[in-house]
Amino acid sequence: MRRKLAAGNWKMNGSIPGLDMIGALKLKHPECPCDVLLCPPAPLLTHALQNTAGSPIFIGAQNCHAEEKGAYTGDHSAAMIAEIGATHVIVGHSERRDAYGETDAQVAAKAQAAQAAGLTAIVCIGESLAQREAGDALDVIRTQLQGSVPDDSAADTLVIAYEPIWAIGTGKIPTMAQIAEVHALMRQELRSRFGDSAEDIRLLYGGSVKPDNAAEIFALDNVDGALVGGASLRAEDFSPIIQALA
Ligand code: G3H
Repeated sequence: MRRKLAAGNWKMNGSIPGLDMIGALKLKHPECPCDVLLCPPAPLLTHALQNTAGSPIFIGAQNCHAEEKGAYTGDHSAAMIAEIGATHVIVGHSERRDAYGETDAQVAAKAQAAQAAGLTAIVCIGESLAQREAGDALDVIRTQLQGSVPDDSAADTLVIAYEPIWAIGTGKIPTMAQIAEVHALMRQELRSRFGDSAEDIRLLYGGSVKPDNAAEIFALDNVDGALVGGASLRAEDFSPIIQALA
């Protein structure tokens, strides 16, 4: 049985006062109905960890370098993220693939480094609007999944987030049938690669998840939660999404 996961990606948003929303979530979720993860910007990670001490909320980073250490100004390693007590890291978000040219191979190397450091890697994949409209979405997903997920991944250190690029921050979402189709494909691909353990890998949907569409999305087969951007910044938006997973 896969435990549901509500993951919030704050991207380059938030502030120390903004971390007060964690307190609001704690009050509303003394016993979490699902796993809850927040990924604030790197400078806020230690503050977020202090805020969540004693609570069931996990804290993760939004990126890591594939190397353990070295002359990589501005980067941080997976081991550093683990050392401060964070548990997850997002890799291969489309915004990083786009802005920094991250390739599937680089994403896989980051995921591998994360897993080696004891973190759970949340590997993001998803097609562009042009790819969707050209009828190539499923091929793109298959290729990204194959190339971005390390071969030796264990199910408990791997989460896949399907995020159609055109749905991110736009208020548009795919049809329920399209989400279900992609999630079924991902499960099938993972099954052929990892066998029975693929049943334990959590698959998230991401892209304009809001309180008013969360329940419908979460009811779909193989959707084990969400990677939420904008709606994870405020407790009044994120709480109902968490509740929709209960
Ligand atoms: O990582 C999160 C996604 O990019 C979704 O962002 O919920 O603001 O559309 P959004």
